[in-house]
Amino acid sequence: MRKKIVAGNWKMNMDLNEGLALAEGLNNHFIANPLKDREVILCTPFIHLALVSRALTAPGVSAGAQNCNDHKSGAYTGEVSAAMIRSTGAGSVIIGHSERRTYYGETDELLASKTAEALRNGLRVIFCCGEVLSEREGNIHFDVVKRQLEKGLFGFSEEDFSRCIIAYEPVWAIGTGVTASPAQAQEMHAFIRELVEKRYGKEVAENTTVLYGGSCKASNAAELFANPDVDGGLIGGASLVRDEFCSIVNAL
Ligand code: 13P
Repeated sequence: MRKKIVAGNWKMNMDLNEGLALAEGLNNHFIANPLKDREVILCTPFIHLALVSRALTAPGVSAGAQNCNDHKSGAYTGEVSAAMIRSTGAGSVIIGHSERRTYYGETDELLASKTAEALRNGLRVIFCCGEVLSEREGNIHFDVVKRQLEKGLFGFSEEDFSRCIIAYEPVWAIGTGVTASPAQAQEMHAFIRELVEKRYGKEVAENTTVLYGGSCKASNAAELFANPDVDGGLIGGASLVRDEFCSIVNAL
């Protein structure tokens, strides 16, 4: 059975004290309201990771990073390695977020290297894919997602791939307040699962968690999560507000 997951992507928000307070508040909530078979991952800025990891004691709740470097170590000023992330106690890392692809020029090839480095260091990878508005309007959104997954993710062995979570995030829905309709999300998620099945077989496809991201909030989470191929969400803005985030987890 695949895991149901809600991951929060804090992006570049919250100073250390604010972030720690949010993490502690969420941790207390999930101690009082156990997640059972669901899982929560808080993807924080790097500087929060060690303290947040330690603060997260509720079963099923863990910390993750939002990026990592593709090299092992060395003279890469300002960068953070997968091994460093792992040493904080964090268990996951987001790779290939559209903001990294767009603002920092991260290519499919670089993302495959980052994923390899993350997996080598025992991290789980939340691998993001998704088309921009012009690609959807041009009806090439399936081709775009296929290319991103084939180049970034499908080069890995079945064992490595089984430690990857896929997040479909249509770029036109990120931070815009425009959410993909439940039907649009389901259509793409089913397509992604089909691609996984073609590459790794039915059992792996059935066990792969595919998250939806893009203006997902408490008011629309339930209808998105009700789809058979939507296994949870990757939440940006709404993950910064404790009650809103808890309601999204509740909707799962
Ligand atoms: P929003 O939920 O703010 O649209 O962001 C989604 C996202 O980019 C999560 O990674």
